[in-house]
Amino acid sequence: MWPEEQAHGRLKDGFNDAVFGDSVIIRRFRPGDLEAALEIDMEVFGGYDPAIFATFYECHPNSTLVAEIGGAMAGFILGFKHTPFEGRIFWLAVAPGYQSRGIGMRLLLGVLKIFRQMGALNATLEVRVSNKKAQSLYSAMGFCMSGVFPGYYSDGEAAIIMKRRL
Ligand SMILES: CC(C)(COP(=O)(O)OP(=O)(O)OC[C@H]1O[C@@H](n2cnc3c(N)ncnc32)[C@H](O)[C@@H]1OP(=O)(O)O)[C@@H](O)C(=O)NCCC(=O)NCCS
Repeated sequence: MWPEEQAHGRLKDGFNDAVFGDSVIIRRFRPGDLEAALEIDMEVFGGYDPAIFATFYECHPNSTLVAEIGGAMAGFILGFKHTPFEGRIFWLAVAPGYQSRGIGMRLLLGVLKIFRQMGALNATLEVRVSNKKAQSLYSAMGFCMSGVFPGYYSDGEAAIIMKRRL
């Protein structure tokens, strides 16, 4: 079974319904979302330069998505068409209070669909060697390890490169 089918099956099986039901909306990022996105970014990553986020959104509005629950932002994903045939996931974050409830999975499903609509054949991402939770989500979504970048992050940690066909 294709990873998306398994993921959708898992949602249907009640993985998430007991908590959120159909109330999770995955939609495109809007300029008014910036403040909430920066708050989540601060909570999970310690806060990057807001200008990077704003510039990214302006350059890639179609593949910058948010998850909204009851009008509040629960998470976001930033992706872009890296080469004519490759979509790249640049940033994914779910607010701590909403983690482990399928929001990251839904955001990934959303951006993979957009990559496909853009004509990409593969999707890639980098993840910290120590970030086992993100790695298990990506593996569940069909990504496989395709390499390692030693010293990729500013603190010297290596990145695992993960890739999947679309
Ligand atoms: C990593 C992160 C984005 C995941 O988002 P999330 O909403 O918590 O993830 P999900 O609930 O969709 O999925 C993760 C969990 O479900 C599991 N999972 C998801 N889809 C699955 C599937 N189809 N089949 C089996 N397991 C699945 C994962 O293994 C993981 O298990 P756990 O929560 O019990 O540890 C989020 O935890 C986060 O923002 N972390 C901090 C920032 C970060 O690390 N970002 C990624 C940088 S590369």
